[in-house]
Amino acid sequence: MKLHHNPASPFVRTVMVLAHELNIADQIEEIDTGVFLPDRVNEGVASDNPLGKIPALITDHGSVLYDSRVICEYLCHHAGNKELLPDEPVSRFRILTLQSLAIGLMDAGVSRRYETAVRPEEKRWPEWVARQHVRMEAGLDDLENNWADELASANVGSIAAAAVLAYFDFRYGDIDWRDARPRLAAFYQDFAQRPSMVATQLPA
Ligand code: BEZ
Repeated sequence: MKLHHNPASPFVRTVMVLAHELNIADQIEEIDTGVFLPDRVNEGVASDNPLGKIPALITDHGSVLYDSRVICEYLCHHAGNKELLPDEPVSRFRILTLQSLAIGLMDAGVSRRYETAVRPEEKRWPEWVARQHVRMEAGLDDLENNWADELASANVGSIAAAAVLAYFDFRYGDIDWRDARPRLAAFYQDFAQRPSMVATQLPA
């Protein structure tokens, strides 16, 4: 398998942490996007994913899969694993919703990052940045208050949650998301020590 990859992307990291948890990371060849910017087409990625977004996975059968949700489901299927994404419907849809919550937080954090770090200063829209901040805070509160059972084990939802918390530390070191969220802080402290997280560190 080949994966269009950028080490800073929390969406990519989610996929790679899962691959390590499934013990299949060595089956994935990473295709580095190089500098990845939102205002231009990355031809290498776009040749496989018309949306030009990462991650995109090329399977050994030559199919292209995106986005990270579909890739996670595929990797569990490929590895024959029913623990990280169980069939039992109550758990399954809770875990998938947790995954969507974490992906929504990634969307807010990455969009805000592009607006504040990439977009020319005179074109920035402070109200839009503030809206992303509100979204991030509300999502973090929800992670703190409503997902203890799902965060208690490794699964496709808790992996995505850990990936977005790591991204917030990486890009938003000034936001103390741990403050007043002791359960989430404890979850991340523990999860960040898993070999799958250690093996997929963000760039320095
Ligand atoms: C980042 O540098 O924050 C980033 C890079 C690629 C995808 C998403 C985020």
